[in-house]
Amino acid sequence: MSKKPSPQAEITSLRELIERYNHRYYVLDDPEVPDAEYDRVFRALQELERQHPDLITLDSPTQRVGGAPLSAFEEVKHRLPMLSLDNALSAESMADFDRRVRERLKLDGEVGYAAEPKLDGLAISIRYEDGVLVQAATRGDGTRGENVTQNVKTIKSVPLRLKGKGWPPVLEVRGEIFMPKAGFAKLNARQRAQGDKEFANPRNAAAGSLRQLDSKITASRPLAMFCYGLGEVEGHDMGDTHSGNMALLEGWGLPISPELKVMVGLEACTAYYTDIAERRDALAYDIDGVVFKVDRVADQQALGYVSRAPRWAIAYKFPAQEEITVVEAVEFQVGRTGAVTPVARLTPVFVGGATVSNATLHNMDEIARKDVRVGDTVFVRRAGDVIPEVVSVVLDRRPHKTKPVMMPTHCPVCGSDVIKPEGEAVARCSGGLYCAAQRKEAIKHFASRRAMDIEGLGDKLVEQLVDREMVDDLADLYELSVEQFAGLDRMAEKSAQNLIDALAKSRETTLPRFLFALGILGIGETMAANIANALGTLDAVMSLRLTDLVELKQSQAKRLREVLEEHADRKTPIAEVIVPLPGLKWFTHTHALLLAERFESVGDVLQADADALANTPSVKIEGVGDVLAEKLVTFFKQSHNREVIDRLVKQGIHWPAIEVAEAQDQPLNGKTFVLTGTLSEPRDAVKARLIALGAKVSGSVSKKTDYVVAGEAAGSKLTKAQDLGVAVLDETGLGKLLDSLK
Ligand code: IVH
Repeated sequence: MSKKPSPQAEITSLRELIERYNHRYYVLDDPEVPDAEYDRVFRALQELERQHPDLITLDSPTQRVGGAPLSAFEEVKHRLPMLSLDNALSAESMADFDRRVRERLKLDGEVGYAAEPKLDGLAISIRYEDGVLVQAATRGDGTRGENVTQNVKTIKSVPLRLKGKGWPPVLEVRGEIFMPKAGFAKLNARQRAQGDKEFANPRNAAAGSLRQLDSKITASRPLAMFCYGLGEVEGHDMGDTHSGNMALLEGWGLPISPELKVMVGLEACTAYYTDIAERRDALAYDIDGVVFKVDRVADQQALGYVSRAPRWAIAYKFPAQEEITVVEAVEFQVGRTGAVTPVARLTPVFVGGATVSNATLHNMDEIARKDVRVGDTVFVRRAGDVIPEVVSVVLDRRPHKTKPVMMPTHCPVCGSDVIKPEGEAVARCSGGLYCAAQRKEAIKHFASRRAMDIEGLGDKLVEQLVDREMVDDLADLYELSVEQFAGLDRMAEKSAQNLIDALAKSRETTLPRFLFALGILGIGETMAANIANALGTLDAVMSLRLTDLVELKQSQAKRLREVLEEHADRKTPIAEVIVPLPGLKWFTHTHALLLAERFESVGDVLQADADALANTPSVKIEGVGDVLAEKLVTFFKQSHNREVIDRLVKQGIHWPAIEVAEAQDQPLNGKTFVLTGTLSEPRDAVKARLIALGAKVSGSVSKKTDYVVAGEAAGSKLTKAQDLGVAVLDETGLGKLLDSLK
């Protein structure tokens, strides 16, 4: 029997193991073992330390969970000051920086710069003595900071003990503590769920988390760190270049930016800046620019410092994505679908590279959550191509006597009622195309590039056409003359003629475009194409009935009869049956309309038996479920829509014919399959193959099932098939069947 290791030896080896797991997980992003295994090892160490408290050391991973709360942070004097960086806010000032560096170094050639993103977090200095983390301090005023050792030790990517060999006996590393975006989102969701205040951005969240007197709170926050420099180093020389030194730190288990690269010359630096700017949104953490540092340490020393910033480094900043401004008003915009959206009118502010004077407030729930009021000073954010938004309110600056924003009860454009269905966030104007705002948006959509592509019919023009009551519906567009167009603001004869030509050109289109252009709720480009390809002609689309699309199974029909039998008055028109019916959750408004196509009243329905009530759809359109089916059918049922479409077609809108694959030609048409058990390839793949041959693949076995394909370990479906006498195929059997169809 081998000798049992001493507690000390066991503790040491568990600590090494845990630190290795931590490094793989938090620094290399490449976990070595599952969480459960990590937890097991961690608990083993905790237990041993509980039995041998004298063996607990400061660098034990168990010490990461946070200790007793402090009453205040101690002050730490930095042995080497923590400097700041000069900023470059334009390509010119970046070029000036490079020129100054070359002049001072008296270099003819180009300079090598270590480049990396500028993290949006807070600076930290971490001191290792003999490889053990002994102190961590915030930047403070650069000379004196706060001792946040307990808190930093809870950050899992920060090693408590350096790996490997060759580290200087005294090593201070400088870096940035930050909160990755995903962790920030989760933290805020947690704050919201607990009714706690949310953080405005990851930087604030990181700062708030690090400066907790109770390190247990810090331990629960998803913080991370990258090292970007050195502080005091004693007893050992480091390398000749900044990039080389960072590689040394990496080797000792310290996290450094994976984006760190050496760029030679200004042009390469600019390309690096552009590349990072383009990838900014995709990075896992917030950054606000790129830092360039002269890579050779000897050159850094030659360049030296001015006041608090090195001459050898620069922060080339991105335009700020967040700024502060004032909400001057909150107005309500009405969109194409009638959605009433609150918009903040702002004192114009330059943010994210553009002047912003409007920001979306999304919906009333958002306004209430952020408590945005007229007169408030707010943070606005404009990131990339995203619409500017109000992030949060600076409550300290709220003027007296502000009132919460209210949703108008009537549409600000047409005066119709504003309706907000229960459980939905969006309120809508009920005016439909009576509402000029909805009409404008419908026409803009119709004319847009991916729809009818009417060149030159821009937003401003559409607004004039509607405001002057020249266009009431889509078909009116094609009835306007050159003279009428020429009478509009900023329209010369020539551009009026161009517009007429563009309208003429748009008459030649495709059926998918035309269907998309009609602006049916829920029918985007893909869905429009699916519908057109499944049906082939506009006539076929317009004569769709719900019975063609929506299924009522026999079992459902049976249940429905039972419920109607008990509950409803027989004279009630079927379309007016109140949904959902008690005990029939699946029975929706769509099903009521489906039945109303064939039956008048509840009494009529009860006269038919379950067989007659049930129906199998004859048309299958990819992506069109019950909800879309109802929208589609309802749209084409309405007489004003039919009339507009009629007129559009009369005015010569046309498209090439579409060939529809004849469903009847498919070899498995009308056959229903059920797949069960484990098959040798993914079930979806088999399913797709069967559907391509015209089969229907269902989830449950019934008398109507033609074949059950049973793989390994098939269960109740197989038994049911056998009970009902449905044909059962194994995979070989299915293969043979498919081969026979070729
Ligand atoms: S180097 C002596 N590199 O920016 C130069 N700083 O504006 C030390 N920062 O206080 C800074 N990312 O907290 C450097 N990759 C990076 C950085 C970075 C963020 C912060 C740092 C510093 C501030 C200066």
